[in-house]
Amino acid sequence: MTDLDGNSLTREVIDRFADTGDPRLKAVIASLVRHLHGFVQDVELTVEEWGAALEFLARAGRACTEGRQEFVLLSDVLGVTMLVDSINHPTAGGTTETAPPGPFHAADAPELPLGADMARGQPGERLHVEGSVSSGDGRPLANAVVDVWQADENGYYDMQRPELTEPTLRARFRADGRGRFAFRSILPSHYPIPAGGPVGELLNATGRHPFRPAHIHFRIAAEGYETLVTQLFPADGPYLADDAAFGVKPSLVVACPQGAPGDAPDGSAGPWRRLAYDFVLKAQASASSVQKGAGRHVCGEGTSAGEVVLGHAHMPTIVGLADKNHADESTQVDQARENDIRG
Ligand SMILES: [Fe+2]
Repeated sequence: MTDLDGNSLTREVIDRFADTGDPRLKAVIASLVRHLHGFVQDVELTVEEWGAALEFLARAGRACTEGRQEFVLLSDVLGVTMLVDSINHPTAGGTTETAPPGPFHAADAPELPLGADMARGQPGERLHVEGSVSSGDGRPLANAVVDVWQADENGYYDMQRPELTEPTLRARFRADGRGRFAFRSILPSHYPIPAGGPVGELLNATGRHPFRPAHIHFRIAAEGYETLVTQLFPADGPYLADDAAFGVKPSLVVACPQGAPGDAPDGSAGPWRRLAYDFVLKAQASASSVQKGAGRHVCGEGTSAGEVVLGHAHMPTIVGLADKNHADESTQVDQARENDIRG
């Protein structure tokens, strides 16, 4: 037994893990103890505050179900999800920046021909999306698979709309021989992350809102290159400056100007907007992802998780990310949307 003051206690705790066999785990635990003790000392945490913190974590645990992961929400609103994503996907040589995939990617989205309408007649502002996929040295990546998914004009993904009978606002497109792709869609809406649990209480207590800005998800794969997972954000929507999940990077914000009337690529009449973006993939050989052993927390496809969304028969049940998830929380979403209107 040792007579311990604050500093020697920290050392003693770290030393207690000295026999940890896995060197990465040993390093992570030592750093965790150092930073956690430093945090407690920094804010001179009271007994009551520590008790409240433990109770918060316990309630967060109780809020988790097979379909909901409150700790991932916590990770998102604290910016840890994006920090981990950024550390593991550093940009280099002008390659496109990444963003987490969220919970609503489906591996079996239908492949549609270039120029097809993945909105399948859903109402909304018509959007023509076009772009290219290339390597860092400007070489077009022919036949790259461009997997796209997004929310509708009310902020819901198809998996959250059981009345839909086929994949909607999601599809895969294959770039042509020049690495170019195009498809038709509608402008997505911003939406709230689930705010009815302890994380929502944290947001309320700190004067924060639960909204994410409108975005379109992309997952672009080409042989010999790191698969790019990212999001594009229309430049004129709300919450770009204060995304609840910190997902917005300036390079991913894109203007969507109005197209000339009658000049829509599909030849149809009526208003339409254009979104153009050129994606640059990182060659696998030059990948510099951090691989320190502990690795990323992976849930589903690769990042955070939020809750399971019970979808259609043709869609998998997906454990998702805090990216959004208002599937089974219509009440709190309604409340959040009231907040949106109020704000
Ligand atoms: Fe999303």
